[in-house]
Amino acid sequence: MTTNYKIKVPFVDLTREAKNYLPQILLNTDRVLKSGQYINGPFVKEFESLVSEYLGVKYTISVGNGSDALMLILKSLNLSLEDEVICPANSFIASAWSIIAAGAKPVFCDVRDDFLLDPIDFQRKITSKTKVVMPVHLTGRVFEVGLISQICIDNGIKIVEDAAQSFGAFDSNNIKTGALGDAAAFSLHPLKNLSIYGDGGLITTNDKKLAEDCLLFRNHGLINRDEASVWGYNSRLDELQASYALIKLKNIEDLTSKYIGIANFYNNRITNQVIKPKIRTTLRDVYHNYVVVVPPHIRDDLIEDLSSSGIGTKIHYPTPLHLQMCAKDLNYKPGDIPNVERLAQSMISLPIFPFLEEYELEHVVNNFNNLITKYL
Ligand SMILES: Cc1ncc(COP(=O)(O)O)c(C=O)c1O
Repeated sequence: MTTNYKIKVPFVDLTREAKNYLPQILLNTDRVLKSGQYINGPFVKEFESLVSEYLGVKYTISVGNGSDALMLILKSLNLSLEDEVICPANSFIASAWSIIAAGAKPVFCDVRDDFLLDPIDFQRKITSKTKVVMPVHLTGRVFEVGLISQICIDNGIKIVEDAAQSFGAFDSNNIKTGALGDAAAFSLHPLKNLSIYGDGGLITTNDKKLAEDCLLFRNHGLINRDEASVWGYNSRLDELQASYALIKLKNIEDLTSKYIGIANFYNNRITNQVIKPKIRTTLRDVYHNYVVVVPPHIRDDLIEDLSSSGIGTKIHYPTPLHLQMCAKDLNYKPGDIPNVERLAQSMISLPIFPFLEEYELEHVVNNFNNLITKYL
């Protein structure tokens, strides 16, 4: 008897993780539903306090999503329309949106070959109006904190970490992302390293005033049940999601080591004919995405051929922020942020999520390497 068995490796399959934690998820669902308290309750408080402990920060404020986390931090910095916030042009649209929504002006910056903010271009983009830099720990890779901090100190600029993709990463001094700048934003979106089963986000900071402002903003500006001191928002993590986040937080080291294990597997086995992320041992990158860079002329065909072999891939991100339609009033043009634009044509994100099986990784590597031999 012959078996017609074709391996499929999805870019991501969230159901595997949910299935793994199902008994605890059901238990916590039961607890929350029976408590009758679904907003601003004990699970949210416990989760915030454990995140502060894990990251080594004084304050953690949970909010409705990572985009709001960024926006509320910027809001609390009281920026005006003239004020400039520098952010890398290779990021998810929310990074730039948060600046616009906070009433300031995004200024886009180039990245190095590892997709992280280029400190040299950052310095070039600073003007008398620059108030904040918002580097992104893209792909879960820690940005160059030392050099960026020094530039910020010299120029009176605040650092807001976009740590949406980097929960659990730390720098060479063992300081976790989320504790490296003046404030940080995390996303708890289902695709993130610390994720829930819906939307959620976190603000972390050691700045008491900023934390107090964000607390007000996330809950309608209310100082008590009936009185609001500022115009605020409704951006809260609910009790059910906080109870799920607690389960994931308790397992974060295991989940993180799975991401790193897959990245190491790919790095050892994928052909050196393409550019792979440099594995750094003096700090901890957490590989939210595993991105390889290939010659632009083969990229799209390679993606199609991988798909025909049952392998899901993505591009993070095909359209740089400065060239998005919504950014047209900012008057950027192709060629303005060259390395971001080059990478947008050359990168491919391979499947990486904690419950990938070894035979699936073998399938990815074998097909990828065979295709590269065919093309190059
Ligand atoms: C780099 C980056 N910043 C911000 C966000 C926004 O987070 P959320 O989707 O939770 O609003 C994301 C999420 O995709 C992200 O990847």
